[in-house]
Amino acid sequence: MKKTVKDIDVTGKRVIVRCDFNVPLTEDGIITDDTRITSAMPTIRYLLDGGASVILMSHLGRPKGKADPKYSLKPVAEHLSELLKQKVLFPNVPEVVNDDVAALAKKMEPGQVMLLENVRFRKEETENDPAFAESLAGLADVFVNDAFGTAHRAHASTAGIADYLPAVSGFLLEKEIAFLGNAVANPERPFLAIMGGAKVSDKIPVIEKLLDRVDSLIIGGGMAYTFLAAKGFSVGKSLLEPEMKEMASALMKKAENKGVRFLLPIDVKVGKSFANDTMWAYYDAETMPEGFMGLDIGPTSMDIFADEIKNAKTIVWNGPMGVFEMPNFAAGTKAVAEAMAETDATTIIGGGDSAAAVKLFGLEDKMTHVSTGGGASLEFLEGKELPGVAVLEDK
Ligand code: 3PG
Repeated sequence: MKKTVKDIDVTGKRVIVRCDFNVPLTEDGIITDDTRITSAMPTIRYLLDGGASVILMSHLGRPKGKADPKYSLKPVAEHLSELLKQKVLFPNVPEVVNDDVAALAKKMEPGQVMLLENVRFRKEETENDPAFAESLAGLADVFVNDAFGTAHRAHASTAGIADYLPAVSGFLLEKEIAFLGNAVANPERPFLAIMGGAKVSDKIPVIEKLLDRVDSLIIGGGMAYTFLAAKGFSVGKSLLEPEMKEMASALMKKAENKGVRFLLPIDVKVGKSFANDTMWAYYDAETMPEGFMGLDIGPTSMDIFADEIKNAKTIVWNGPMGVFEMPNFAAGTKAVAEAMAETDATTIIGGGDSAAAVKLFGLEDKMTHVSTGGGASLEFLEGKELPGVAVLEDK
């Protein structure tokens, strides 16, 4: 167990908090989904109520170590000011931290909030450069990591900084670890995992790990076609990773040996091209036509998957069943989301595209937990120790 903000005295302290404010923005800098900001509010409010001054830091996008106004955190600072109903200081300093920022931090009164500019404007951030980590640490007395979505990165603001300050977790990080950790360690059974998304290669370690834990596993989305091809079916123009066929067979064999029910789509919705308005048709997965690509699961698969969901007591879902961003190929992902929304089971959405899908269908509130981390939740489910968690003090 890691120490949290509740295990330390924050009164009169300057607390630097790493958040994951990597939110989607329009070209005009409008935030289109503020979940990651609102999810950090409990920690920020707790610190302010406890009499701390709060310095927030985050990355936004991948500006590759250069200051790029497109990736400025200014819109986040403005949004935070609205949410907190108080001015959030935003030193518009592309080098993130300098003497002026240090002087400003020193002058902060309890209850004040400052947001630093995008830490990835400095290449030292992703290099986990000790001098940069130390300069961030120099702004505060305590480090709080609440950036679950970035906890799988060993960067200066997520890991390196803990060499210079007492380091504890925020409430969001604590909650994420509790939900994801508990689901895998002590699942109420039957335990079902649903994996989807484009690439098998990205998900092999997590599938491998989950096969040791789950009672059943559903595979959908683009990666299902590599498994179907491994079974000897022709998959037309569907997404296929030929070099992963052997691995897919090995995973299916492992499932069989472990007595894990392994469910692939038995019917699919194919399209002529990768476009919403393309010509489409339903086919059995065994008889997919040449010249077409699978873009969603078919209605029989939706029913089978929904039944499996109905019978489970713990469900972890990572990755869509089809190209849900295109309305004509969203039905499979929606069917899974709706079945999960209807069950009383513990339902955990592992961030990224499945979290976006659940939000799109307006079913977010119906899930037990929707993770704010895509890559981070996958690595956590793989059983990896996340660097941003490992550096925190133990209780
Ligand atoms: C995410 O969106 O998954 C996190 O913010 C991490 O971003 P990164 O993949 O650019 O490190």
